[in-house]
Amino acid sequence: MAFPHRHDLETTTLLSRHMGEEEARHLDTWLERGGYEGLRKALTMEPEEIVQVVKDSGLRGRGGAGFPTGMKWSFMPGADDDRPHYLCCNADESEPGAFKDREVLRWSPHLLIEGCMIAARAIRARHAYIYIRGEFFPVLPILNRAVSDAYREGYLGEGIMGSGWSCDLTVHVGAGAYIAGEETGLMASLEGRRAEPRVKPPFPAQVGIFGQPTTVNNVETLAAVPMILTNGAEWYRQWGTEKSPGTKLWCCSGHLNRPGNYEMALGVPLKDILFDVCGGIPEGRAVRAVIPGGSSTAYLTPDELDCETTYEGLKEAGSSLGTASPIVMDESTCLLRATRRIAQFYAHESCGQCVQCREGTEWVTEILTRIEHGDGRMEDIDTLYDLCEQLTGRTICVLADSVVFPLKSSLDKFRDEYEAHILRDTCTAT
Ligand SMILES: Cc1cc2nc3c(=O)[nH]c(=O)nc-3n(C[C@H](O)[C@H](O)[C@H](O)COP(=O)(O)O)c2cc1C
Ligand code: SF4
Repeated sequence: MAFPHRHDLETTTLLSRHMGEEEARHLDTWLERGGYEGLRKALTMEPEEIVQVVKDSGLRGRGGAGFPTGMKWSFMPGADDDRPHYLCCNADESEPGAFKDREVLRWSPHLLIEGCMIAARAIRARHAYIYIRGEFFPVLPILNRAVSDAYREGYLGEGIMGSGWSCDLTVHVGAGAYIAGEETGLMASLEGRRAEPRVKPPFPAQVGIFGQPTTVNNVETLAAVPMILTNGAEWYRQWGTEKSPGTKLWCCSGHLNRPGNYEMALGVPLKDILFDVCGGIPEGRAVRAVIPGGSSTAYLTPDELDCETTYEGLKEAGSSLGTASPIVMDESTCLLRATRRIAQFYAHESCGQCVQCREGTEWVTEILTRIEHGDGRMEDIDTLYDLCEQLTGRTICVLADSVVFPLKSSLDKFRDEYEAHILRDTCTAT
């Protein structure tokens, strides 16, 4: 499926500059476009210096949690630790609503490879992995070709770019489970085990892949690194805000005239992205709700869309930036049905280790289905609130919490929808 890219709209293009440009996938063209300059610079720097530049840039992880990238790298052991260190690029992208990482992989694979090598040098890794979602069938050959070209031309492997520094990169194809995107589940899967998350601590920087110090970073995070190294931390900070610097790829879907991937400076009001960049709602219908950061984030109502698209701005609005994947629902949407569908997804993807998650997500789905089919009772609303409580903060990973954000916000903000289904067997959607 083709998505519109920046060429026809006023967006900022750092990561997405070459999206849609087929030849930029190839190494020779990529080099003409200034590719691998960030790595060239990084090879003249000590690991600590690279970490400092990324810290100064304020880059935050784009995998969902927004953790500061330079700080994460600084948790890795230093030169006195002679164990192997690993970098793992998380390309499992499975959050409903998110479709940005696969576009970076598809159009700019060398950008990611370069980002991986800079990060590997910063954390003293000699082996990096890209764990790619198994269903990314058209993307895999593009990435594999870029990796083999980079090996052949000396951008990967022994003595990278004529330096004395060597690093390997392996593309590992995932086996199709959402939970393999959670970093400890991902590491288990990479080692050939079931993608079951484990309790943290120990954090991956202490005990990661094969029991060794590991950093896991998202595709978009690593793709931002080369330009930061090339142009400097201050340059990167010209976009975004003090606490949320830089640009962000927004995956906009749902009831929009121009759904697609758009790169924007962080901080633009959400409504400007949805109504100006994406052209608003088709056929003049009204917006009913927006899930701003992918399916695991809380619903916003139309009057909450003024919020700033920063990590802080969306938190203040009662939701989160997550993977920056707004799903727009117009007035024809039944929010009970939408929430049931989200809950069903998480129930299906639960790995089943934690009772609260395994049972709770099923119960939520069952109760929502019952209400949707006109067999609900008013007590069900209290039971759902109770389940929200049971699913919050009690499990190994936050998949269980992921159900709570859309569920609880739908109960709080759209109670009329629940009551209409339970009391009158009707729906408030137009
Ligand atoms: C259930 C679950 C699924 C996740 N899926 C992904 C994913 O597909 N891609 C990703 O980058 N991060 C995902 N994460 C977040 C990762 O655990 C990890 O925080 C992230 O890859 C770190 O990268 P960053 O610091 O660059 O954001 C997921 C987390 C959870 C709890
Ligand atoms: S919260 Fe759910 S997905 Fe996460 S470890 Fe527990 S059972 Fe598995």
